[in-house]
Amino acid sequence: MTNEKFDLYCKEYFSSLRNNKLTEAMAYAFEGGKHFRPELIFAVVKGFNLDEEDAYPAALALEMVHSYSLIHDDLPCMDDADLRRGKPSVHKAYGEDIAVLAGDGLLTHAFGVLADADYRDHIRLSMISDLSSLAGLNGMLHGQYLDLTHSNKEEVDNDILNEIQDYKTGALFETALFFAMYLTGDEDHIAFYEGLAIKMGRVFQLQDDLFDQERSENETGKSTTDVANEKASSLCVYNSEELKAQIDKLFAEIDDDLEHAPFIASYFKELIQQMKER
Ligand code: IPE
Ligand code: IPE
Ligand code: MG
Ligand code: MG
Ligand code: MG
Repeated sequence: MTNEKFDLYCKEYFSSLRNNKLTEAMAYAFEGGKHFRPELIFAVVKGFNLDEEDAYPAALALEMVHSYSLIHDDLPCMDDADLRRGKPSVHKAYGEDIAVLAGDGLLTHAFGVLADADYRDHIRLSMISDLSSLAGLNGMLHGQYLDLTHSNKEEVDNDILNEIQDYKTGALFETALFFAMYLTGDEDHIAFYEGLAIKMGRVFQLQDDLFDQERSENETGKSTTDVANEKASSLCVYNSEELKAQIDKLFAEIDDDLEHAPFIASYFKELIQQMKER
């Protein structure tokens, strides 16, 4: 997923910050991702014939929170992962102390990006409230907590697996779709966006777990040590074949949902296609 215009917008944001090792680490952590969550926002916004640039502040803020979550996820006390996006993880490149602060910085300033955005008050406040809730205890943080506290096959069943996926991964997808909903004013279809986000979070995390098992670190660009470390993942519940069947089933449901999308779905379908091919 290349989007030079959005990349440039993000670069300009980071170069506007105080220049030191901490902000260097924040920019390092931000770089190199697929920008899947921003592209989700853009796909819906474009589906309403609006300009994707209007969504840049929202997309930057969300990607900042996602990048912070990965810095902390990689720390030795969490997944203990040394490789991220084909580079040493932030704590390997800058030390654990700076890595923790870089995560704090991305999280804290994401809210500033939304507060300073040139959006109507209702939109800014809704985004800030949703991001706090869905990146926090009603979302990603709760999922990460469950992930860390269920560490082997005995403790993970299908229900807890779904809860982990819906919170740790689905919640930021939901944030993306909710941001798009505020930007487009399409607030009547909240149930549609919620349902779609949950399915996308599950399929995305199932794929991620499958790649952890089947692909090399060279291919994924990140440490694939979750199985060896007995982390809670779908591999505790399903074998690879079952996982692939689950993935196909979820994609079929997503395709079906998109037939009834409240927006022109072609951009979104393109994104789903890229997801299927990843
Ligand atoms: C990784 O997310 C964390 C998961 C939820 C599986 P991405 O696969 O979107 O990571 P980047 O941003 O492209 O590196
Ligand atoms: C992490 O899931 C999801 C987050 C909220 C950070 P993983 O631990 O599977 O993500 P990767 O594989 O390290 O990217
Ligand atoms: Mg993890
Ligand atoms: Mg991890
Ligand atoms: Mg993973």
